[in-house]
Amino acid sequence: MFDQLKAELDSIMERDPAARSRWEVYFLYSGFKAVRSYRKAHWFYQHGHKFIARWISQRARHKTGIEIHPGATIGKGLFIDHGMGVVIGETTEIGDNCTLYQNVTLGGTGKEQGKRHPTLGNNVMVGSGAKVLGPFKVGDNARVAAGAVVLDEVPANATAVGVPARVVRINGVKPNSLDQVHVADPVSQELCRMQAKCLNLQTRLEALEKERARSLEDPEREESVQ
Ligand SMILES: CC(C)(COP(=O)(O)OP(=O)(O)OC[C@H]1O[C@@H](n2cnc3c(N)ncnc32)[C@H](O)[C@@H]1OP(=O)(O)O)[C@@H](O)C(=O)NCCC(=O)NCCS
Repeated sequence: MFDQLKAELDSIMERDPAARSRWEVYFLYSGFKAVRSYRKAHWFYQHGHKFIARWISQRARHKTGIEIHPGATIGKGLFIDHGMGVVIGETTEIGDNCTLYQNVTLGGTGKEQGKRHPTLGNNVMVGSGAKVLGPFKVGDNARVAAGAVVLDEVPANATAVGVPARVVRINGVKPNSLDQVHVADPVSQELCRMQAKCLNLQTRLEALEKERARSLEDPEREESVQ
């Protein structure tokens, strides 16, 4: 248990240059407190004590301003920086070592039933004020910019910005500068092959037609051909 606690504290220290000691993180970081309360609440939730689970979660919300539904599934090393205003919905799934800033919502659009909240991969960063709404996946190492509203899947290693969010970088490269002209397209290759075959057939047909016309004009030649 202590190893796990130490690992959580260290993962926050690694990501926050303002954190000076483990003690500081343990006693003063609201995000750390909220995640610890979530772990307790989640245990009760999983063991069928839904009311106690919600009670712990709401108590943590009053103290930290961070609301994490006890039904959410959260991996190791979640860091909620500053925290105030963060909302994490019931069917949200969060991978390992993700970072969320203040005012992030991982929510639903209000249109879905069942799984209605997003799934974040590992090492995902969601910037302050960003809203990620719907039951889609945000891939590993993706970055959601501050203030973005994400309504659709974000691929791994991508940066999504704006409202509604669009992908502006994949592995640090602008998507429109990726070479889409010289990539072999199997459909157009097949069409080219079919066009070549049609031209070949057309040429042969024309030659046969000419031959036939000539032989009709000159029946003796046709006999000699036969
Ligand atoms: C998006 C972010 C993670 C940078 O990611 P990145 O992959 O390094 O992307 P870049 O800085 O190269 O920017 C990519 C493009 O997105 C734009 N962009 C970056 N952040 C943006 C934002 N929040 N909103 C709109 N556009 C943004 C850039 O201007 C750039 O535009 P361009 O394609 O015209 O050049 C960062 O800008 C961000 O928003 N971080 C959030 C941090 C935060 O919330 N901090 C709070 C601390 S209290």
